[in-house]
Amino acid sequence: MKLKSLLLAMAAVVCSSALFAQNREKTKPLTDEQWMSLAPTPPMGWNSWNKFGCNVSENLIKDIADAMVSSGMKDAGYEYVVIDDCWQIDRDENGVIVCDPERFPNGMKAVADYVHGLGLKFGIYSCAGTHTCQGRPGSMGYQFIDAKTYAEWGVDYLKYDWCDNEGQNARAAYLTMANAIKATGHPIVFSICEWGENQAWEWGKGIGHLWRVTPDIRACYDCKFDWGGVGVLGCIDAMAPLHEYAGPGHWNDAEMLEVGNGEMTKDEQISHFAMWCMLAAPLMSGNDLRDMSLQTIEILTNKEAIAVNQDPLGKQAVLFMDMDGHDRQIWAKPLANGEIAVCFLNRGRDTWNLDYNWLNQTMYFATEINFRTNEYNIRDLWAHKDLGTSKGRLVADINPHGCLMVRLSRTGM
Ligand code: GLA
Repeated sequence: MKLKSLLLAMAAVVCSSALFAQNREKTKPLTDEQWMSLAPTPPMGWNSWNKFGCNVSENLIKDIADAMVSSGMKDAGYEYVVIDDCWQIDRDENGVIVCDPERFPNGMKAVADYVHGLGLKFGIYSCAGTHTCQGRPGSMGYQFIDAKTYAEWGVDYLKYDWCDNEGQNARAAYLTMANAIKATGHPIVFSICEWGENQAWEWGKGIGHLWRVTPDIRACYDCKFDWGGVGVLGCIDAMAPLHEYAGPGHWNDAEMLEVGNGEMTKDEQISHFAMWCMLAAPLMSGNDLRDMSLQTIEILTNKEAIAVNQDPLGKQAVLFMDMDGHDRQIWAKPLANGEIAVCFLNRGRDTWNLDYNWLNQTMYFATEINFRTNEYNIRDLWAHKDLGTSKGRLVADINPHGCLMVRLSRTGM
């Protein structure tokens, strides 16, 4: 018992040493405008939970950050390295959160500094309830102390969960934490994780920068669990009706990626990633970046697909056509400069022998896309080749659970 108290006291000192170096000048709270500008495009990064669960440590996070750089992920646009649940172990006598001294022997600021040293950003996890989902100390009642601690560590991203919430009003609970962060004056992207239970899309804009819309994802294409877990298709279906709620600074979160995890086929993993790009969903990889197959790297770093996700117009794709009992779907995402991304998603078990005549289609977005008056070049974003123009037919065989994702840009422009 004595040893535990000693360890905790030491950890409290290491974890909170930055407290002594507080800036003495009065901090200026972030303005609403600054707050809204923190995620102009969907955040991209990595989160520990899907692959590692509670098995997080300083060494793991440093190695993952190194791998994010050496694998080409950083070049492709990934920047946040986020530690999910289980880094925290207690609070000290001042209520300051204490990180696990065995797993983070140098404290969290040292980890943040290391990640920043690689030109990346650092994220952390807490919970609006009394405890996190793994029973660690939550932030309820400690929001302002925690936000201050995170700011002093240099945290750039906070995922904020909803376990043990004691029946709080969700909007009020998330607003309290947003206000606590803003008060520090330190820019922190705020990720609301209430699993869609309180329809965060209806009130989340201006409070958080992204919000979950489903229970936890599992590394499978079309699976459902009694306890609420969802597969890739479940996430896509939950996102479908919510396109109007997404835009620069406020995103529907389709859940963290499972590319490189589990047993999904190559086609399933490509469809997973392609659809997250179409849906303007945050791209938080959830696999072991230290140990990736070439296929996993190619999927996660497909720059043409990522450009669709990161398009500055910030529109989420709409389900344009839903056919054959949802087996065959056409999704369309308006892009900046009048371009458009289209994804033919084959959710069925049979090959889709596509023979598509653009001339029969008109797509309505902010502006009408009329294929009779305008001709578009068609580019296949996974084969990385041009497929003619919208005056011709688009003929392709799309594998079961696969997709064809194309980008349309006006000819002669
Ligand atoms: C919840 C969240 C997950 C993960 C775990 C951690 O289930 O939805 O994404 O953060 O908690 O305990």
